[in-house]
Amino acid sequence: MVRETRLSPQAFVYPLFVCPGEGVRKEVRSMPGVFNLSVDEVVKEARETYALGIPAVILFGLPENKDEVATGAWAEDGMVQQAARALKREVPGLVLVGDVCLCEYMSHGHCGIVRSTPQSLGAAVADPPAAAAAYEIVNDPTLELLARTSVSLARAGIDIIAPSDMMDGRVAAIRQALDAAGQQNTPILSYAAKFASGFYGPFREAADSAPQFGDRRSYQMDGANLREAMREIEADIEEGADMIMVKPALPYLDVIARARERFDLPLAAYQVSGEYAMIEFAARNHCIDHDRVMMESLISIRRAGASMILTYFAKVAARLLA
Ligand code: PBG
Repeated sequence: MVRETRLSPQAFVYPLFVCPGEGVRKEVRSMPGVFNLSVDEVVKEARETYALGIPAVILFGLPENKDEVATGAWAEDGMVQQAARALKREVPGLVLVGDVCLCEYMSHGHCGIVRSTPQSLGAAVADPPAAAAAYEIVNDPTLELLARTSVSLARAGIDIIAPSDMMDGRVAAIRQALDAAGQQNTPILSYAAKFASGFYGPFREAADSAPQFGDRRSYQMDGANLREAMREIEADIEEGADMIMVKPALPYLDVIARARERFDLPLAAYQVSGEYAMIEFAARNHCIDHDRVMMESLISIRRAGASMILTYFAKVAARLLA
């Protein structure tokens, strides 16, 4: 009765990884209980998710082919586009969030367009510092691809566009492109404060999106910076974000709490792959009580101030809550 914070499946968003094929349900080694799913399996999974009272899923795609312009991200028949069409037909009440990023679709695994010479790409393997100086993620040309991806996803039935690339100016570029395409009612959930984090490790196996050279520190945030996180969020809101996100969650609860105090928009937190894997593997090794630690981590994210939690635990936690 006196409890201050409550958990409900209605706060959860469940991540799904869509891959080519039919009948494919391939477990991710670094994330037990998480699968790469073909479109037909995504539909089954989404039906179960919705039946558990979880209102939304966020979709990630594993394309057949990768290239230097992320064709798989914005192609009419991209993995997420195919899944979105099927889900709108089969599970119409479910809210579809589309992660907008290019890393899963780029041959080099970066979230933006890379400018470099073939020599510098070779240097990446031999001499990482030299390679780091020899390539650059080009911000502004990347915006066009992100905007194209967003319009393509909205047309396929994605309800909420969630850019996670961390390029500067992407929210404004996406908003403008959506409006111009007649998608002015499609909201943007911006991964506004996304930190360059070791906790994304298992995701990069799940989505096959590890950068082939360098890292993401030139576009994702420094984990030491709380004030800069507020500036990043403010910029996204000014550019037109309708909802904001902090990511990862548990190591950044103070950022969530500060964002809750400062901003009035709906606030999401992403309990990322590494947070999930730590709990799963520790529990499997009998170090901790799985359900207890899972619920404690989820309630702490809510206590910090997040209204929505993107979590791989969504289904398991929803079953416990029921
Ligand atoms: C795409 C993206 C990532 C995650 C969500 N969108 C990976 C990254 O930035 O490297 C991470 C999610 C997770 O770890 O669960 N850029």
